Amino acid sequence: MAQLTYSRLSHLLRISVNKPSALRTGTEIKHGAACCVQSKRCQRSVDSKALQERQKQIMAKGLPKQKPIAGVKQVIVVASGKGGVGKSTTAVNLALGLMANDSSKSVGLLDADVYGPSIPKLMNLKGNPELSDNNLMVPLTNYGIPCMSMGFLVEDVAPIVWRGLMVMSAIEKLLRQVDWGSLDYLVVDMPPGTGDVQLSITQNIPIAGAVIVSTPQDIALLDARRGAEMFKKVHVPVLGLVQNMSVFQCPNCRHQTHIFGSDGARQLADTLGVRLLGDVPLHLNIRETSDRGQPVVVSSPDSPEAEAYRKVASAVVQRLQEVNT
Ligand SMILES: Nc1ncnc2c1ncn2[C@@H]1O[C@H](COP(=O)(O)OP(=O)(O)OP(=O)(O)O)[C@@H](O)[C@H]1O
Ligand SMILES: [Mg+2]
Repeated sequence: MAQLTYSRLSHLLRISVNKPSALRTGTEIKHGAACCVQSKRCQRSVDSKALQERQKQIMAKGLPKQKPIAGVKQVIVVASGKGGVGKSTTAVNLALGLMANDSSKSVGLLDADVYGPSIPKLMNLKGNPELSDNNLMVPLTNYGIPCMSMGFLVEDVAPIVWRGLMVMSAIEKLLRQVDWGSLDYLVVDMPPGTGDVQLSITQNIPIAGAVIVSTPQDIALLDARRGAEMFKKVHVPVLGLVQNMSVFQCPNCRHQTHIFGSDGARQLADTLGVRLLGDVPLHLNIRETSDRGQPVVVSSPDSPEAEAYRKVASAVVQRLQEVNT
């Protein structure tokens, strides 16, 4: 039986609202001059019952069953409603931070941003994944972290112009056709927004927790809140918020400036009743090392910036223990 995706489902539901006849059963009453108001009302109620029944059936068979990713113990998604707030940078340094804090843990990184994959650049990886004996894609590895991204499967500059079902099928491939071996944590870098990709992932695999990244700016916090509420709605535990780019320190005079505000994410965490997992400064070193494909946690492990990411990683592990008990 073909799985029904969220977009197909909402499409069907839309049809059902706009054109009820498309979903009618054979119980309709024929129209004609003799039809009285009473029979029209009656027809409407039959239609609406049939419609509700049909919608229930669609919902029941349409929602995919969650199935764990083979070999992966815990999936952590890094998300935010808004674009460009530092999800990918946080995801990469969180994965490296988890490993730096406890070298016995194996960590993988999945780039779920199929439109704008960043992981190949941030992890300095290029090339096509090989296939294992059982026809699964073998992740590319750097800094000890196996990574999978749509960026390994399409050309660097090729525009990714996919719609609905194609995106679902790409996500399905990334979730099911990768040989991760055995992982303690799989960190998933989400695309911006709260759309099809987010829903598809949350419906397909069990997620141990979501980390929401936001700058302290009102406009980013609004979307971060939407992101957190979405995860709550689909019963994914929100591990907490990471406040990114909260403070900039001038490298010359050491003066500190809160370009995007100072405390917005902390306040939002309080409002939502979730934890603030950490505060990452706006720092040239983070941007430069990211652009070089040498994330700050591995290239400047003694810097305060790397320390900030390691603190986020230990807060995430602590929260995972709390939500699992
Ligand atoms: N704390 C930071 N200090 C300095 N630069 C940062 C910091 N965090 C992220 N950046 C930079 O900000 C830009 C956006 O970061 P990133 O790509 O991680 O955001 P994103 O939320 O994943 O974006 P998108 O929504 O497009 O996927 C990048 O150039 C990155 O290097
Ligand atoms: Mg990104």
